[in-house]
Amino acid sequence: MVDFGSGPGIDAAYFLGFGIAYVGVDLAVGNAKLAAESGVSVIAGSLLNPPLRERSFDAGWSMSVLMHLPDGDVSAAVTAMVARLNVGAPFTIGTWGSANPRHVLEDDDYPDQRRHYYLRSLDTNVDLVGGVEAAETMDVGPSGWEYHVLRLRAT
Ligand SMILES: C[S@@+](CC[C@H](N)C(=O)[O-])C[C@H]1O[C@@H](n2cnc3c(N)ncnc32)[C@H](O)[C@@H]1O
Repeated sequence: MVDFGSGPGIDAAYFLGFGIAYVGVDLAVGNAKLAAESGVSVIAGSLLNPPLRERSFDAGWSMSVLMHLPDGDVSAAVTAMVARLNVGAPFTIGTWGSANPRHVLEDDDYPDQRRHYYLRSLDTNVDLVGGVEAAETMDVGPSGWEYHVLRLRAT
């Protein structure tokens, strides 16, 4: 399976524990280096053009990444990610959002390295991602933040 926007590949342990081969892709080269130090495969690259062969993975996973992309990039990123999956492969996307949509620039942990968060409604995320078979909201975040989980299959 492929983890798009994997960070240093923390989720790898879960999949590897079930005997599922894991490759991550992340924009930050430093995350690829950190992953390599723990024996996990993460390739540096963008969601908008993942450096992977088309139709080469049986499952896709992308957690807490799409909210960093502006609306105009989300559909293009999803198209590029789906193209790396075999037809019919399940693809699970998790992203932060809000019933009170807004754009914020913040980071609680590193105030000097604030990141863009495009907090969209569930409906907007479903529309931008396209082809969603199931969607759910987890009301777990601070200040009205929600976590959206979208499930689709590669076409
Ligand atoms: C909040 S972290 C989530 C990391 C991991 N998925 C997790 O849940 O632990 C967001 C990650 O998305 C990556 N990212 C942001 N924009 C990206 C892009 N356009 N292409 C690839 N990765 C991106 C960042 O480098 C960062 O590692």
